[in-house]
Amino acid sequence: MIITISHQKGGVGKSTLAYNIALELARKNNVEVIDLDVQQTVTAYNQIREEMGQTPLPVHIFTMAEELENYFESMDDETIVIVDSGGFDSSLNRFAILVSDFIITPVSSEFTEILGLQKYESILRELSEQSGVSIVTNVVLNKTNPNQKKFDEVNAFINSSKHFSLMDSMMRRRVDFANSVAYGFSVRELDKKSESTKELKEFVKEIKRKVGINDKKKD
Ligand SMILES: Nc1ncnc2c1ncn2[C@@H]1O[C@H](COP(=O)(O)OP(=O)(O)OP(=O)(O)O)[C@@H](O)[C@H]1O
Ligand SMILES: [Mg+2]
Repeated sequence: MIITISHQKGGVGKSTLAYNIALELARKNNVEVIDLDVQQTVTAYNQIREEMGQTPLPVHIFTMAEELENYFESMDDETIVIVDSGGFDSSLNRFAILVSDFIITPVSSEFTEILGLQKYESILRELSEQSGVSIVTNVVLNKTNPNQKKFDEVNAFINSSKHFSLMDSMMRRRVDFANSVAYGFSVRELDKKSESTKELKEFVKEIKRKVGINDKKKD
């Protein structure tokens, strides 16, 4: 099972969500992470995690599509792979999109996000034409103002494209995401009762339902 967090636009929360989704799924499943970002954010978070005495995630760094291809060919069916793709367009990031079972694209609710999504949509259109399969990414609103209720403009744009499917869950802007990094924690590990934890749990529940993940380990 390959789940890729992808958007060619930088700073939308790919690494943050990839890391939190991976740690949440790793509670009950075999999870591995692939870091395709040149900044290696997830790798750095995971190193802090190890230094703080927590069990780190298995994180792999690949810089060539061939290495990624070999890795996917040898992985077993039980493993869930979370790919953090870089915030830029490249053949490696495109390859990850093509082989994924589920793609997640974080965007904020600001109107300017539509410009970034338009560019991303053109990449998905191109890849769909090349592969003959209509590629759909699951768009999640991230870093939204905790008090904002209406997201009409960005939602209308997302709903108007056959390459985007709007997720029901939403990740609000919460300081816990930055604060948890100092420990290499997910937001749930930082505070299991916080709003960010509730939102993360709902989000991962939706991912599991849509991808068809049944937890391997029970409580
Ligand atoms: N839901 C959230 N609430 C608050 N801050 C967030 C949230 N999601 C992400 N952030 C913050 O936004 C910043 C950018 O996030 P992140 O590094 O995950 O983005 P990215 O898409 O991976 O960027 P790049 O394209 O450069 O790799 C970070 O400082 C992160 O802590
Ligand atoms: Mg990143």
